[in-house]
Amino acid sequence: MNYGPNEAGKYAQKLRINLLEAHGVDIILCPPFLALKPVFDAVADSKIKVGAQNMHEADSGAYTGEISGTMLKDLGIDYVLLGHSERRHVFGETDQRINLKIKRSLQVGLKPIFCVGETLDERQSGSTNVVIKRQMEHGLDGIDADQLKSIILAYEPVWAIGTGLTATPDQAVEVHQDIRSLIRDLYGQASADEICILYGGSVKPENTEGLLRNEDIDGVLVGGASLKLDQFKGIIDATLKIV
Ligand code: PGA
Repeated sequence: MNYGPNEAGKYAQKLRINLLEAHGVDIILCPPFLALKPVFDAVADSKIKVGAQNMHEADSGAYTGEISGTMLKDLGIDYVLLGHSERRHVFGETDQRINLKIKRSLQVGLKPIFCVGETLDERQSGSTNVVIKRQMEHGLDGIDADQLKSIILAYEPVWAIGTGLTATPDQAVEVHQDIRSLIRDLYGQASADEICILYGGSVKPENTEGLLRNEDIDGVLVGGASLKLDQFKGIIDATLKIV
């Protein structure tokens, strides 16, 4: 819930101008609902894509205040974040609800960015892999290998989001490898090789390269640092050293 339509639109315009050189990096901007249209217009005909931060699982109906995937498609949006830790922990979204959202997003032709991650308590009690497995298995229930091709995964340890604490590359890699082997068990080797797994949680210019040097980390999901253009640009520059 940062940046309204005016601010976000201006930001996207500046980012677009700043990114003319950034070949080889895929960028998806996910602003709040009200800012989707100005951001979408600002990056039209560029390689920057746009995603929403959430959607409702129904197509339409008596759900006052909600936004459906069909509405996002209508606007021309391609991606939607689903299962972000704040949706899970602040708004009480369950694995089952996230699964319904993922299924609906695919039905309407959106590409979900499906987030999973453990809390500090879960990590400290040694249950990280159990939690991730549960979130993945429930979230992907009923999704076939063909549909999986449209899904991006994001590992975001809850204790690292907005806290300034980043998982070390080793901590992140360990979970990314677990996620990839889960995908292998569920869908086979080809799907595991193909799936894109992002890391998120206090990503900044200084730690991007160290994270992305690991072949199991395919990209980053940036929160706070994306709000400042120079920081976000720094992350993109660090990414460009690797691609
Ligand atoms: P952060 O946020 O980069 O500020 O930790 C990540 C997120 O909100 O997913």
